[in-house]
Amino acid sequence: MVKKAVIPAAGLGTRFLPATKVQPKEMLPIIDTPTIQYVIQEAVDSGIEDILVITGKGKRAIEDHFDRNFELESHLEGKGKDSAYDEIRRLADMANIHFIRQKEMNGLGDAIRQARWHTGSEPFVVLLGDTVMKSVIPVTQQLIDTYEQYQCSILGVETVPREKVSRYGILGGNTISDHLMEVTDLVEKPSPEEAPSRFAIAARYILTPEIYKAIDETPRGKNNEIQITDALKILMQRERIIAYKFEGKRYDLGNKLDYLKTTIEFALERDEFAKPLMQFLKEIVKGK
Ligand code: UTP
Repeated sequence: MVKKAVIPAAGLGTRFLPATKVQPKEMLPIIDTPTIQYVIQEAVDSGIEDILVITGKGKRAIEDHFDRNFELESHLEGKGKDSAYDEIRRLADMANIHFIRQKEMNGLGDAIRQARWHTGSEPFVVLLGDTVMKSVIPVTQQLIDTYEQYQCSILGVETVPREKVSRYGILGGNTISDHLMEVTDLVEKPSPEEAPSRFAIAARYILTPEIYKAIDETPRGKNNEIQITDALKILMQRERIIAYKFEGKRYDLGNKLDYLKTTIEFALERDEFAKPLMQFLKEIVKGK
């Protein structure tokens, strides 16, 4: 049973400077809701009750966001702003959320390693704190269901166009079905000719506790950081790893253009913004 989630959110967010100089990128809002709140909601909607967020220097806002704020609560209550009050109260009770610090920014592999004592001998799901998923069944739930079937590490993947494979960690292996592959090869940012498939690792993983030993044995790689893909290559020699192509759309809020597109797409789905925003967009496009 997968009961625990780990959310790495310690990264420096250098692609989003200067906004991320003092503000965690995981707190950047999609309209009015911080990115990490969507991520935690996905875990909760998938039946996860215990969440460990990996934070770092300058990330206190994340902890405060999921804590009680008595001053704000009594202000909202006093003004009769019931729905805002309910939402603020709900945040503090969403799940059992713990925090631990990654003291040095040594990469995603090192961030995940900080969860070792929290997850112990259990498998756990990893959700990147800057990536939101939109789907009918929560992507984490889909991965958990796949884990239940195969009882091994599961990598959430999406199919990317061949000309874009060089931006991702690409998997190769034996196809089990349209959605499943037994992983035997893992290439970081291959050229289109080298790529063993178009399956790209995409921000959601279920990992067995064996990953910790693999991370310990992983030398520093790209950017002088401990890369989780390098650790997965070691794990692959020892345990079965399955790639699962999930049903859903991925939004990477860590880069500026995708952030803008996501904000517009999400706003167009909200009744209060859809019409006036579409009107505004049409006017702008007409003027170009
Ligand atoms: P990114 O690969 O986007 O790295 O991290 P980054 O450092 O945050 O951002 P840039 O590239 O400088 O703009 C993916 C996720 O992993 C976390 C990040 O917080 C993000 O949610 N992460 C990354 C860590 O927790 N620790 C790290 O050392 C690196």
